[in-house]
Amino acid sequence: MTSLMQIDILTLFPQMFQSPLSSGLLQRAIDRKLVSVNIHDIRYYTHDKHRTVDDYPYGGGAGMLLKPEPIFEAVEALKSDLSLSQRGQELPIILLTPQGRLFSQQIAQELSQHSHLVLICGHYEGVDERVREHLVTDEISIGDYVLSGGELAAMVVIDAVVRLLPGVLGSEASPLDDSHATGLLEYPQYTRPPVYRDWAVPEVLLSGNHARIAEWHREQAIMRTLQRRPELLDKAKLCLKEEQLVERLKQPQ
Ligand code: 6GU
Repeated sequence: MTSLMQIDILTLFPQMFQSPLSSGLLQRAIDRKLVSVNIHDIRYYTHDKHRTVDDYPYGGGAGMLLKPEPIFEAVEALKSDLSLSQRGQELPIILLTPQGRLFSQQIAQELSQHSHLVLICGHYEGVDERVREHLVTDEISIGDYVLSGGELAAMVVIDAVVRLLPGVLGSEASPLDDSHATGLLEYPQYTRPPVYRDWAVPEVLLSGNHARIAEWHREQAIMRTLQRRPELLDKAKLCLKEEQLVERLKQPQ
């Protein structure tokens, strides 16, 4: 049986992926053959005796760039390993770079619909522009800050995507309830004991009244979103009653 999703990662630092892929949810998904992750060392696709992967930018400037040849050859090698049926599907080839589109839950959902992803981890000052122009189909950034390479970003993307694949989360947890999946931040949650150091769990949660609890969850999620990330409320789908709640909460107390 083939996995639900194949992920190929091109990197200069294969060892960086060892521990994230060998613990927790990702390890479990791999063991259960829900996803298969292959790490490819870009350096393997060089031909010179120094195994050169980078070079100086034409026209000068700070730092080094990743050369195009090993990256093209690595992607072509993995494409040539695809079965006939796999070749029929369009294959996202994603460059992780601070210049990419900003990663989000929506993009994670979009990527989770594919059966195969290729992730290329950028490094140094960047990659030769021909990789972008003629190989890559998408570019992703995980936020407005600079990392030393695309590896950590690739792991973020993989974690967010794999947990959306059917069967990866336990049946009790639903990705539909996550912060951001609803367009809202998550409501506050409590576990036992019911009173800890004088701090009691909100009474409604102990009431057993599921309708009231659901309403409280939704209200708290809206309040939390308004307080912390008000810009998210513009896109969240609220009913009329919830819109009115937001308007009331916005009034100066
Ligand atoms: Cl994808 N790569 C690097 N190097 N830095 C980043 C990033 C990616 N996303 C945010 N910062």
